[in-house]
Amino acid sequence: LHLGCAWVFILLLPGLSDGGKLLVVPMDGSHWLSMRKVVEKLTERGHEVVVVIPEVSWQMQRTQGYTVKTYPVSYTLEELNNAFYEYVATHLKNLPFPMNALALYKTSVHVFRTFFIQCKNLFSSKETLQYLNQSSFDAVLTDPIFMCGATLANYFSLPFVFFMRGFPCNLHYEAPQCPSPLSYTPRLFTFNSDHMTFFQRVENALVALLELVYCNGFYEDAIKFSSEVLQRDVSLIDLLHSASIWLLRFDFVFEYVRPVMPNMVFIGGINCAEMKPLSK
Ligand SMILES: *[C@@H]1O[C@H](CO)[C@@H](O)[C@H](O)[C@H]1NC(C)=O
Repeated sequence: LHLGCAWVFILLLPGLSDGGKLLVVPMDGSHWLSMRKVVEKLTERGHEVVVVIPEVSWQMQRTQGYTVKTYPVSYTLEELNNAFYEYVATHLKNLPFPMNALALYKTSVHVFRTFFIQCKNLFSSKETLQYLNQSSFDAVLTDPIFMCGATLANYFSLPFVFFMRGFPCNLHYEAPQCPSPLSYTPRLFTFNSDHMTFFQRVENALVALLELVYCNGFYEDAIKFSSEVLQRDVSLIDLLHSASIWLLRFDFVFEYVRPVMPNMVFIGGINCAEMKPLSK
Protein backbone atom coordinates (compact mmCIF):
# COMPACT_ATOMS: atom_id res chain seq x y z
CA LEU A 1 0.00 0.00 0.00
CA HIS A 2 2.84 2.35 0.72
CA LEU A 3 4.03 1.80 -2.79
CA GLY A 4 0.91 3.61 -4.00
CA CYS A 5 1.63 6.66 -1.87
CA ALA A 6 5.28 6.60 -2.87
CA TRP A 7 4.21 6.75 -6.50
CA VAL A 8 2.20 9.91 -5.98
CA PHE A 9 5.02 11.62 -4.22
CA ILE A 10 7.52 10.65 -6.87
CA LEU A 11 5.21 12.11 -9.47
CA LEU A 12 4.75 15.25 -7.48
CA LEU A 13 8.38 15.88 -6.57
CA PRO A 14 9.28 19.37 -7.67
CA GLY A 15 12.84 18.11 -8.28
CA LEU A 16 13.82 19.67 -11.53
CA SER A 17 11.59 22.74 -11.43
CA ASP A 18 11.05 25.62 -9.04
CA GLY A 19 7.51 24.61 -8.29
CA GLY A 20 4.52 25.03 -10.50
CA LYS A 21 1.18 26.67 -10.36
CA LEU A 22 -1.63 24.18 -10.02
CA LEU A 23 -5.37 24.61 -10.24
CA VAL A 24 -7.27 21.99 -8.23
CA VAL A 25 -10.91 21.23 -9.05
CA PRO A 26 -11.95 18.75 -6.39
CA MET A 27 -15.06 16.73 -5.67
CA ASP A 28 -16.80 17.18 -2.35
CA GLY A 29 -17.35 14.61 0.40
CA SER A 30 -15.16 11.59 0.98
CA HIS A 31 -13.44 12.16 -2.39
CA TRP A 32 -11.80 15.27 -0.98
CA LEU A 33 -10.30 13.50 2.04
CA SER A 34 -7.58 11.73 0.11
CA MET A 35 -7.11 14.52 -2.41
CA ARG A 36 -6.58 17.03 0.39
CA LYS A 37 -3.50 15.07 1.52
CA VAL A 38 -1.96 15.42 -1.92
CA VAL A 39 -2.81 19.11 -2.12
CA GLU A 40 -1.21 19.73 1.29
CA LYS A 41 1.89 17.81 0.27
CA LEU A 42 2.18 19.77 -2.98
CA THR A 43 1.97 23.02 -1.05
CA GLU A 44 4.61 21.84 1.39
CA ARG A 45 6.90 21.15 -1.55
CA GLY A 46 6.69 24.71 -2.76
CA HIS A 47 4.04 24.52 -5.44
CA GLU A 48 1.46 27.24 -5.64
CA VAL A 49 -1.91 25.59 -5.38
CA VAL A 50 -5.35 27.14 -5.83
CA VAL A 51 -8.36 25.01 -4.95
CA VAL A 52 -11.58 26.23 -6.52
CA ILE A 53 -14.66 25.27 -4.51
CA PRO A 54 -18.37 26.15 -4.40
CA GLU A 55 -19.55 28.41 -1.57
CA VAL A 56 -21.88 25.66 -0.37
CA SER A 57 -20.14 22.34 0.23
CA TRP A 58 -19.74 19.59 2.83
CA GLN A 59 -16.08 18.99 3.57
CA MET A 60 -14.04 21.55 1.76
CA GLN A 61 -13.95 24.59 4.01
CA ARG A 62 -10.70 23.98 5.87
CA THR A 63 -7.54 25.41 4.39
CA GLN A 64 -3.92 24.64 5.10
CA GLY A 65 -1.40 26.64 3.18
CA TYR A 66 -3.11 26.44 -0.16
CA THR A 67 -5.30 29.18 -1.58
CA VAL A 68 -9.03 28.61 -1.78
CA LYS A 69 -11.11 30.40 -4.38
CA THR A 70 -14.85 30.13 -3.84
CA TYR A 71 -17.63 30.89 -6.28
CA PRO A 72 -21.31 31.62 -5.59
CA VAL A 73 -23.84 28.84 -6.11
CA SER A 74 -27.56 28.70 -6.80
CA TYR A 75 -28.44 25.74 -4.54
CA THR A 76 -28.72 25.35 -0.77
CA LEU A 77 -26.99 22.88 1.51
CA GLU A 78 -30.39 21.30 2.11
CA GLU A 79 -30.86 20.57 -1.60
CA LEU A 80 -27.41 19.03 -1.79
CA ASN A 81 -28.10 16.89 1.27
CA ASN A 82 -31.51 15.78 0.00
CA ALA A 83 -30.14 14.60 -3.34
CA PHE A 84 -27.50 12.59 -1.52
CA TYR A 85 -29.86 11.15 1.13
CA GLU A 86 -32.23 10.04 -1.60
CA TYR A 87 -29.33 8.39 -3.43
CA VAL A 88 -28.24 6.48 -0.32
CA ALA A 89 -31.82 5.55 0.63
CA THR A 90 -32.42 4.05 -2.83
CA HIS A 91 -29.40 1.78 -2.35
CA LEU A 92 -30.90 0.51 0.90
CA LYS A 93 -34.43 -0.08 -0.42
CA ASN A 94 -34.08 -3.73 -1.48
CA LEU A 95 -36.41 -3.49 -4.48
CA PRO A 96 -36.63 -6.54 -6.77
CA PHE A 97 -34.92 -6.54 -10.17
CA PRO A 98 -35.41 -4.60 -12.47
CA MET A 99 -37.08 -2.00 -10.23
CA ASN A 100 -33.86 -1.64 -8.21
CA ALA A 101 -31.78 -0.94 -11.32
CA LEU A 102 -34.28 1.60 -12.61
CA ALA A 103 -34.57 3.34 -9.24
CA LEU A 104 -30.78 3.50 -8.91
CA TYR A 105 -30.48 4.88 -12.40
CA LYS A 106 -33.06 7.57 -11.71
CA THR A 107 -31.53 8.70 -8.42
CA SER A 108 -28.02 8.66 -9.93
CA VAL A 109 -29.14 10.89 -12.78
CA HIS A 110 -30.57 13.25 -10.17
CA VAL A 111 -27.32 13.31 -8.14
CA PHE A 112 -25.19 13.90 -11.23
CA ARG A 113 -27.50 16.69 -12.33
CA THR A 114 -27.51 18.32 -8.89
CA PHE A 115 -23.73 18.28 -8.64
CA PHE A 116 -23.28 19.55 -12.13
CA ILE A 117 -25.13 22.73 -11.15
CA GLN A 118 -21.87 23.66 -9.40
CA CYS A 119 -20.14 23.69 -12.75
CA LYS A 120 -22.77 25.88 -14.36
CA ASN A 121 -22.45 28.23 -11.38
CA LEU A 122 -18.67 28.33 -11.76
CA PHE A 123 -18.93 29.24 -15.42
CA SER A 124 -21.52 31.93 -14.75
CA SER A 125 -19.21 33.64 -12.27
CA LYS A 126 -17.34 35.96 -14.62
CA GLU A 127 -15.16 37.13 -11.75
CA THR A 128 -14.00 33.56 -11.01
CA LEU A 129 -13.31 32.79 -14.66
CA GLN A 130 -11.32 35.96 -15.03
CA TYR A 131 -9.31 35.19 -11.91
CA LEU A 132 -8.58 31.67 -13.16
CA ASN A 133 -7.60 32.91 -16.58
CA GLN A 134 -5.30 35.59 -15.19
CA SER A 135 -3.62 33.13 -12.80
CA SER A 136 -1.99 31.31 -15.76
CA PHE A 137 -1.81 27.87 -14.21
CA ASP A 138 0.58 25.20 -15.43
CA ALA A 139 -1.90 22.36 -15.00
CA VAL A 140 -5.19 21.22 -13.52
CA LEU A 141 -5.53 18.45 -10.95
CA THR A 142 -9.10 17.27 -10.71
CA ASP A 143 -11.45 14.60 -9.47
CA PRO A 144 -13.44 14.44 -12.68
CA ILE A 145 -16.45 12.38 -11.58
CA PHE A 146 -18.87 15.23 -12.29
CA MET A 147 -16.87 16.46 -15.32
CA CYS A 148 -16.37 20.07 -14.24
CA GLY A 149 -12.57 19.87 -13.94
CA ALA A 150 -12.29 18.30 -17.39
CA THR A 151 -14.53 20.96 -18.90
CA LEU A 152 -12.59 23.74 -17.20
CA ALA A 153 -9.21 22.35 -18.29
CA ASN A 154 -10.45 22.04 -21.88
CA TYR A 155 -11.83 25.57 -21.67
CA PHE A 156 -8.49 27.05 -20.61
CA SER A 157 -6.50 24.60 -22.77
CA LEU A 158 -4.49 23.42 -19.78
CA PRO A 159 -2.95 19.97 -19.34
CA PHE A 160 -4.88 17.98 -16.74
CA VAL A 161 -4.31 15.15 -14.30
CA PHE A 162 -7.15 13.01 -12.98
CA PHE A 163 -7.24 11.86 -9.39
CA MET A 164 -10.14 9.52 -8.86
CA ARG A 165 -11.66 6.20 -7.91
CA GLY A 166 -13.10 5.53 -11.35
CA PHE A 167 -15.92 6.46 -13.69
CA PRO A 168 -19.13 4.58 -14.27
CA CYS A 169 -19.50 2.78 -17.63
CA ASN A 170 -15.88 1.74 -17.93
CA LEU A 171 -15.00 5.29 -19.04
CA HIS A 172 -11.65 5.32 -17.24
CA TYR A 173 -10.57 2.43 -19.46
CA GLU A 174 -12.37 3.50 -22.58
CA ALA A 175 -11.20 7.13 -22.66
CA PRO A 176 -7.45 6.30 -22.51
CA GLN A 177 -8.12 3.55 -25.10
CA CYS A 178 -7.11 0.55 -23.01
CA PRO A 179 -7.46 -2.71 -24.89
CA SER A 180 -10.70 -4.17 -23.60
CA PRO A 181 -11.69 -7.34 -25.45
CA LEU A 182 -15.15 -8.35 -24.29
CA SER A 183 -14.24 -12.02 -24.24
CA TYR A 184 -11.54 -11.53 -21.62
CA THR A 185 -12.20 -8.38 -19.61
CA PRO A 186 -15.16 -8.82 -17.30
CA ARG A 187 -17.53 -5.87 -17.01
CA LEU A 188 -18.46 -4.29 -13.69
CA PHE A 189 -21.21 -6.10 -11.72
CA THR A 190 -21.12 -9.22 -13.92
CA PHE A 191 -18.79 -10.99 -11.46
CA ASN A 192 -17.31 -12.86 -14.40
CA SER A 193 -13.61 -13.67 -14.58
CA ASP A 194 -11.25 -13.62 -17.55
CA HIS A 195 -12.30 -17.22 -18.24
CA MET A 196 -15.86 -16.91 -19.46
CA THR A 197 -18.26 -19.43 -20.89
CA PHE A 198 -20.12 -18.55 -24.06
CA PHE A 199 -23.14 -17.30 -22.12
CA GLN A 200 -21.01 -15.24 -19.76
CA ARG A 201 -19.45 -13.61 -22.80
CA VAL A 202 -22.89 -12.81 -24.13
CA GLU A 203 -23.78 -11.32 -20.76
CA ASN A 204 -20.55 -9.33 -20.79
CA ALA A 205 -21.38 -7.98 -24.24
CA LEU A 206 -24.89 -6.98 -23.15
CA VAL A 207 -23.57 -5.12 -20.11
CA ALA A 208 -21.03 -3.35 -22.34
CA LEU A 209 -23.88 -2.24 -24.62
CA LEU A 210 -25.71 -0.86 -21.61
CA GLU A 211 -22.59 1.08 -20.60
CA LEU A 212 -22.82 3.07 -23.80
CA VAL A 213 -26.28 4.22 -22.80
CA TYR A 214 -26.40 4.90 -19.10
CA CYS A 215 -23.47 7.31 -18.89
CA ASN A 216 -25.12 9.47 -21.51
CA GLY A 217 -27.98 9.75 -19.01
CA PHE A 218 -25.73 10.52 -16.05
CA TYR A 219 -23.76 13.10 -17.99
CA GLU A 220 -26.49 14.52 -20.19
CA ASP A 221 -26.26 17.98 -18.60
CA ALA A 222 -22.47 17.89 -18.57
CA ILE A 223 -22.23 17.03 -22.28
CA LYS A 224 -24.75 19.68 -23.25
CA PHE A 225 -23.15 22.37 -21.12
CA SER A 226 -19.58 21.51 -22.14
CA SER A 227 -20.58 21.67 -25.80
CA GLU A 228 -21.92 25.16 -25.13
CA VAL A 229 -18.86 26.53 -23.33
CA LEU A 230 -16.34 24.84 -25.63
CA GLN A 231 -18.37 25.84 -28.69
CA ARG A 232 -18.18 22.46 -30.36
CA ASP A 233 -20.04 19.15 -30.06
CA VAL A 234 -18.23 17.20 -27.38
CA SER A 235 -18.71 13.64 -26.21
CA LEU A 236 -17.62 12.21 -22.87
CA ILE A 237 -14.60 10.63 -24.52
CA ASP A 238 -13.61 13.99 -26.09
CA LEU A 239 -13.65 15.59 -22.66
CA LEU A 240 -11.60 12.88 -21.00
CA HIS A 241 -9.23 11.32 -23.48
CA SER A 242 -6.51 13.97 -23.38
CA ALA A 243 -5.87 13.64 -19.64
CA SER A 244 -2.09 13.60 -19.16
CA ILE A 245 -2.08 11.24 -16.18
CA TRP A 246 -4.73 9.13 -14.53
CA LEU A 247 -4.06 8.69 -10.81
CA LEU A 248 -6.49 5.94 -9.84
CA ARG A 249 -7.38 5.32 -6.22
CA PHE A 250 -7.76 1.57 -6.43
CA ASP A 251 -5.66 -1.51 -6.65
CA PHE A 252 -5.72 -4.76 -8.56
CA VAL A 253 -5.69 -6.58 -5.24
CA PHE A 254 -9.44 -5.93 -5.38
CA GLU A 255 -10.03 -5.83 -9.13
CA TYR A 256 -9.58 -8.13 -12.08
CA VAL A 257 -6.25 -7.58 -13.81
CA ARG A 258 -6.55 -6.01 -17.22
CA PRO A 259 -4.40 -4.11 -19.71
CA VAL A 260 -3.90 -0.42 -18.90
CA MET A 261 -2.10 2.49 -20.49
CA PRO A 262 1.30 3.78 -19.27
CA ASN A 263 -0.21 7.07 -18.05
CA MET A 264 -2.47 5.23 -15.62
CA VAL A 265 -1.00 5.04 -12.13
CA PHE A 266 -2.58 3.01 -9.35
CA ILE A 267 -2.46 4.70 -5.98
CA GLY A 268 -4.99 2.70 -3.94
CA GLY A 269 -2.80 3.14 -0.85
CA ILE A 270 -3.68 6.81 -0.71
CA ASN A 271 -7.10 5.82 0.67
CA CYS A 272 -5.31 4.90 3.90
CA ALA A 273 -3.72 8.33 4.31
CA GLU A 274 -6.36 9.35 6.85
CA MET A 275 -6.11 6.14 8.86
CA LYS A 276 -6.90 5.85 12.55
CA PRO A 277 -6.27 2.91 14.87
CA LEU A 278 -9.26 0.61 15.39
CA SER A 279 -11.14 1.15 18.62
CA LYS A 280 -10.54 -1.67 21.08
C1 LIG B 1 -8.03 34.74 -21.07
O1 LIG B 1 -7.60 36.06 -21.15
C2 LIG B 1 -6.99 36.39 -22.38
C3 LIG B 1 -6.38 37.78 -22.28
O2 LIG B 1 -7.26 38.70 -21.70
C4 LIG B 1 -8.03 36.29 -23.49
O3 LIG B 1 -7.47 36.61 -24.74
C5 LIG B 1 -8.56 34.85 -23.52
O4 LIG B 1 -9.60 34.72 -24.46
C6 LIG B 1 -9.07 34.43 -22.15
N1 LIG B 1 -9.35 33.00 -22.20
C7 LIG B 1 -10.48 32.48 -21.81
C8 LIG B 1 -10.64 31.02 -21.99
O5 LIG B 1 -11.40 33.15 -21.33
